[in-house]
Amino acid sequence: MFFKKKPISQIDDDQIALVENAQRRIRQKKGLYNHFVFWIFTSVVLWFVNMVVGVGEAVLILDYPWFVSIIILWSLLLLYHAFQVFVTKRFMGKEWEKEQLKRLTALQQIKIEKIKRSLDKEAQLIADSQFQSEQSKPKQCITIIAAAAANNALGKDNNLIWHLSNDLKRFKQLTKGHHVIMGRKTFQSMPKALPGRVNVVITRQEDYQPEGAVTVHSLNEALEIAKDDLQPFIIGGGEIYKQALDVAHRIELTRVHAEFEADTFFPSFDLSVWKETFKEDHFKDDSHDYDFTFVQYEKTN
Ligand SMILES: NC(=O)c1ccc[n+]([C@@H]2O[C@H](COP(=O)([O-])OP(=O)(O)OC[C@H]3O[C@@H](n4cnc5c(N)ncnc54)[C@H](OP(=O)(O)O)[C@@H]3O)[C@@H](O)[C@H]2O)c1
Repeated sequence: MFFKKKPISQIDDDQIALVENAQRRIRQKKGLYNHFVFWIFTSVVLWFVNMVVGVGEAVLILDYPWFVSIIILWSLLLLYHAFQVFVTKRFMGKEWEKEQLKRLTALQQIKIEKIKRSLDKEAQLIADSQFQSEQSKPKQCITIIAAAAANNALGKDNNLIWHLSNDLKRFKQLTKGHHVIMGRKTFQSMPKALPGRVNVVITRQEDYQPEGAVTVHSLNEALEIAKDDLQPFIIGGGEIYKQALDVAHRIELTRVHAEFEADTFFPSFDLSVWKETFKEDHFKDDSHDYDFTFVQYEKTN
């Protein structure tokens, strides 16, 4: 047979409690015994005083000789004392209370554990569904859109160098309804704000407030304004493209197959980071002076 070993401190506590309880019980029983002896002794004395010596012979209480009534009442008291010792203090004493309290606490503990487990489960479900909705949320695609010559030329004297109507059409089609983010110089190169789009102009000037555009003082601020747009476009010019390469996810580049003298250039970008995902060639015709290609790049990391 195997006994589970209790730690020494627990043995001591249990033993002390047992000894204390036994001592208490002995004291209670001794008290009852003394009461009983005293009751017998007093009853005999009262009987003797009344019946033999004749003290208060004719005195009645509740129709009994006085000493009989006193002994009856005392007997009831003695019975009550015995009941206290053998029933109340045995079963419902401090130990009983402690035991009940322990049991109730254990039950409460089980309930608390159950509630905790179901709360944990609920929290996990909420976290999972939040994670899933986060995952299924469409990601923003910050897109650089530019037309650059074979030598990366973009513009000269704050103007475009060529006119390619199909490129302009594509620009309009792609950017319609979105935020178009640009440097102050590019904005000033246009006759007015681009209609049907939110024009966001980046400048360091505090008091620059052109008509039809929102002014900001950094690219980050511009992207913050466009944070709810799934595809905000960075539309130039050279300075802004350079800063945007780090944060952009896609480049829509119109490569014009000719070289031009220019003062603004498209920045070179790392082709191990940017992968070509789409390409469409267009050739010169009556309304297009140069061959050009639409090329799409996606950032790979
Ligand atoms: N081919 C294309 O696809 C294309 C597209 C767009 C533009 N372009 C051409 O590009 C040329 C303009 O380009 P660009 O490089 O000269 O100028 P830009 O990039 O359009 O604008 C530069 C201006 O933006 C503001 N800026 C730049 N970085 C900033 C920052 N970090 N914080 C606050 N403000 C900042 C400054 O404005 P403030 O000086 O006001 O402080 C700066 O002078 C033009 O020739 C235009 O025609 C070509």
